[in-house]
Amino acid sequence: MISQFFGLTGAPFSKEIPTNNLYQSTSFRECMARLHYMVRTRSFGLLSGEIGSGKSTAIRALRDALDLTKYRFIYICDSSLKPRDFYRELLFQLGIIPQNLKSDAKRQYEHAVWDLYESQQKTVVAVIDEAHLLQGDMLQEIRFLTSFQIDSVSPLALIVVGQPELRATLQMRLFKPITQRLNIRYHLGGLEAAEMREYVEHQLRAAGAQHPIFTAEAIDAIYAHTRGIAREINNVCVSCLLDAVVRKEKLVDAIHVARILTEYKE
Ligand SMILES: Nc1ncnc2c1ncn2[C@@H]1O[C@H](COP(=O)(O)OP(=O)(O)O)[C@@H](O)[C@H]1O
Ligand SMILES: [Mg+2]
Repeated sequence: MISQFFGLTGAPFSKEIPTNNLYQSTSFRECMARLHYMVRTRSFGLLSGEIGSGKSTAIRALRDALDLTKYRFIYICDSSLKPRDFYRELLFQLGIIPQNLKSDAKRQYEHAVWDLYESQQKTVVAVIDEAHLLQGDMLQEIRFLTSFQIDSVSPLALIVVGQPELRATLQMRLFKPITQRLNIRYHLGGLEAAEMREYVEHQLRAAGAQHPIFTAEAIDAIYAHTRGIAREINNVCVSCLLDAVVRKEKLVDAIHVARILTEYKE
């Protein structure tokens, strides 16, 4: 509907935006630099950010950029995971059939990671997303993942990703040993106001738009509501575009935005 009405070639503000076409905000670039550093140095780190700020998208971009002859990417995103299933899942992703007992699976995992590192010169890059939802026992398992070093050589890079409350949880005394090991940190914030304007234009151009669709006033109103958080911008923009389609209007202005935001509040 939107594409046809505005003469676009694709759907703007889609979740599936290819990682080679992401908007490169300053914080996104900094975040990527930090992630690549963690991978290169096989370190452990923490990526935090508000819901919808682009954490998982950054991880997707990292995965797509990895040289598969050197790295093995593992991605876990399951808040209900129990420690036993955690190792099973890690092993499955490495293409290994896990043994039944948790202690065996844990050992198998440790061997597999070292074996990849020593005999194939491959580093495992493990990402645990939505980690703010994990129970304490799972956080303790993350501690195990960070602990199997030999002579301070680590065969793996571990990136723990979560919403800001994860940072608060990790400050608790109980989790200090993990926190100390996650020594590279980045907090992904919202876009700056000027960046948000570029972001919206970027998204529309990526969908084939030839000219601007949102007025400057519309952009200001969207920024005031979304504080530059990508997913919120996407949601508001799509709603505004639909509203404009229904009214057969080719420009989205502050009135469309105000109408949509009132609907959000209802
Ligand atoms: N740099 C970016 N360029 C384009 N779109 C982005 C970018 N960062 C985030 N997005 C969009 O915002 C949405 C929310 O991002 P996501 O990574 O799922 O947030 P989080 O994991 O922090 O909750 C994604 O669906 C994606 O379409
Ligand atoms: Mg996410």
